[in-house]
Amino acid sequence: MAASLVKRLLCVEDKVFLVTGGAAGVGAGIVRGLLNENARHVAFLDVADREGSALEAELITKFGALRAKFIKCDISDEAQLTAAYKQVLDKYRRLDAVINNAAVLSIDDRNVKRMVDINFTATVTSTMKALDIMGANKGGNGGTIINMSSLLALNLGSHLPVYAATKTAVLQFSIAMGAEKLYSESKVRVITVCLGPTDTAILHRSNLQNFDKDSAEPIASRVSVRQRVGSAVSGILEVIDQGKSGSTWIVKDDQKAYEITDKLSQAFEVLSDI
Ligand SMILES: NC(=O)c1ccc[n+]([C@@H]2O[C@H](COP(=O)([O-])OP(=O)(O)OC[C@H]3O[C@@H](n4cnc5c(N)ncnc54)[C@H](O)[C@@H]3O)[C@@H](O)[C@H]2O)c1
Repeated sequence: MAASLVKRLLCVEDKVFLVTGGAAGVGAGIVRGLLNENARHVAFLDVADREGSALEAELITKFGALRAKFIKCDISDEAQLTAAYKQVLDKYRRLDAVINNAAVLSIDDRNVKRMVDINFTATVTSTMKALDIMGANKGGNGGTIINMSSLLALNLGSHLPVYAATKTAVLQFSIAMGAEKLYSESKVRVITVCLGPTDTAILHRSNLQNFDKDSAEPIASRVSVRQRVGSAVSGILEVIDQGKSGSTWIVKDDQKAYEITDKLSQAFEVLSDI
């Protein structure tokens, strides 16, 4: 019999996923992509009630009632996040992978703390919860955690300082949590994706222009080239399937995902000599 020409993503097929920020943008694309690749169940958390419920209805029509579940949850509220994880475990009895994708980018100085709380602190809290549930050293079956960072984490720029700092923190944290020694105990891969500009609401002009009102080259115009959400999702699915624990990947410009783990190690080695 001829071998199937369709590549199966073995780290997706038949697995139970939890995706944060899954009601819109890249997160919604990931949720759809996972179900298309035969994930067994995908639960997605979001504060956006209307979008989340609409997506859930769409997915139930397409894939059946049990395959997708929207949970309204502000991930920066630890009690809500804990309750959401419990709901997923109660409903599906297992968890194989978590995509920590939710983030915000705000022009309002009053939202600085909220950016840190959602983009970094909640990613840490969710990663720890996922390790507690999936970690082989905690009685789990192992699994995968993907943490979403940004190309901005790899740049020494003056634009979007707080947002960029949260994404740099996510990168450092995820590299550390994915280290070989921890993986050998938990059997949970922790992987970072640095996403390039992608066509979602987070890049709306109103989100960007006031950050750089004194700049000669507004950031809103520099990020006018954005990849399609579909390209970002394809890259992220590839990383879920292929990435080793502790690895870092770039998904940008509508290209295939590529790994920069060695380059980052070399850069950190240079810095450690200082
Ligand atoms: N779009 C880009 O250009 C770009 C570039 C680099 C990195 N990223 C990263 O990719 C990820 C996805 O971003 P996106 O472009 O899809 O953004 P988006 O704004 O389109 O979607 C983010 C989702 O997160 C949800 N969310 C926000 N706060 C939340 C909270 N407290 N609790 C639960 N859900 C919450 C939002 O409601 C929304 O549905 C983010 O981590 C972002 O930092 C995006």
